[in-house]
Amino acid sequence: MPSRPPTVREQFLSLPAYAAGEPASLAATHKLSSNENPEPPLPAVGAALAEAARRINRYPDLANSALVGALARRLSVPPERLFVSPGATPLLDQLVRLTTAPGEEVVTGWPSFEGYPLAIRANGARTVTVPLRRAALDLPAMAAAITPRTRLVFVCSPNNPTGTTVTHDRLAAFLERVPERVHVVLDEAYIDYVDDPAAPRAVELVAEHPGLTVVRTFSKAHGLAGLRVGYAVTHPAMVDALTRLRPAFGVTALAEAAAVASLRAEYELADRMERARGERDRLVAGLRAAGWQVPPSQANFVWLPPGPRTRELAARLRANGLTTRLLGEDGLRISLGTPGINDLVLHTASEDAPTGPVRGGMPV
Ligand SMILES: Cc1ncc(COP(=O)(O)O)c(C=O)c1O
Repeated sequence: MPSRPPTVREQFLSLPAYAAGEPASLAATHKLSSNENPEPPLPAVGAALAEAARRINRYPDLANSALVGALARRLSVPPERLFVSPGATPLLDQLVRLTTAPGEEVVTGWPSFEGYPLAIRANGARTVTVPLRRAALDLPAMAAAITPRTRLVFVCSPNNPTGTTVTHDRLAAFLERVPERVHVVLDEAYIDYVDDPAAPRAVELVAEHPGLTVVRTFSKAHGLAGLRVGYAVTHPAMVDALTRLRPAFGVTALAEAAAVASLRAEYELADRMERARGERDRLVAGLRAAGWQVPPSQANFVWLPPGPRTRELAARLRANGLTTRLLGEDGLRISLGTPGINDLVLHTASEDAPTGPVRGGMPV
C-alpha cells in the first residue's frame, strides 16, 4: 500500500471529532452519558418499521411528505415552514454553512451543546462563547457579544448540559435586540421534557421572526436516536436554502415511518413524558437533599457543577456500572435512567455528598 496519506485540505486535518458518550460495557452496564431515552421506542414504531422494511428496495420519498404532513398537523405549522433531516446534528452544520462565512463569528452560551463548536469550526467560522449565569444562558450578555462579524447565535433550551431553559419573554426581548443580519437557532432537542409554562412558545416566535430557526429531534423523547431523524421549523426561504444544501435521500424510509408512527402515538408519548419528568424531578430533589448543587432541569438529564468531588462521584458511579459524562471543566451530566437506575444514582451520590459549597463550582 502506498505510504502517502490521501490529499485532504490542511484546515480539516486538525478538526476535533465529535466524542460520543461512553458506551455501556462489561464494566459499566448502564449508559447515562448521551441523554438517550432508556425505554425502547413506542410500540407502534415496531409495526411501522416492519411494514416500511418491506419496501426498502425503493428510494425514500425525497420530500419526506408523510413526515412533513404529520408535523404540520401536529404543530399547526404550514408545511413550507418545515424541513426534515437525518437528526438535528446535520441541521446545525447546514445552518452554520448557510449563514456564516469562514472567519465570521457564531455566538453560543457555554457550557452548551458540544456539537456547536464542532459545526462552527468545520465551517471555518469562529466560536464566541458567553459564560452561563446561574447555570442558564445569559441572553443579555449573548446579545452584547454580537459584533459586526456575527452571523449566527445558538440558543439551546433546555440547555445541554445544564438542563435550564430560557423564558418566552426573555427570548422574545433578545430576538428584538438581534440585528437582522444575524440568524438565531433555538435548539429544542429536549422540548418534550419541558413542563415550565414560561418556556418559549417557539412556533409562535418563528411566525414573528424571519431570522429564527427552531431545531428539534426524534432522538430523545421519541427514543429514535439510532434511526436519525430531526426537523427544523423556520422561514420558507430558509427551508428552500436547506433543501438546496441537503444530501438527497438523507432521511431513510424507515426513519420517516418510525417518526410518523411515534408522532401519531401522542397519548403514549405524553404518558412517558409525564413519568420521565417525575423521575427527573425526583432525581434533582434527591441530589439536592444529599447536598449537591443541582440547577433546575427541564430536560432528561441533571448537571452537577465542576469540582473534585464531582469527578470522584463520576468515578464511583462508573464503579457501580453507570457511565456518565464529564464535561467542560469536569462538571458532570447524568442522563435519566429507568427508576431502578435512578435509585442507584441517588444511592451513590448520597454516600459522600458534599457538605459545603462545591469548590470551583458553578453558582446555581
Ligand atoms: C442540544 C442538542 N442538540 C442537538 C443534538 C443532536 O441530536 P440528533 O441526535 O438529532 O443529531 C443533541 C444530542 O445530544 C443535543 O443535546
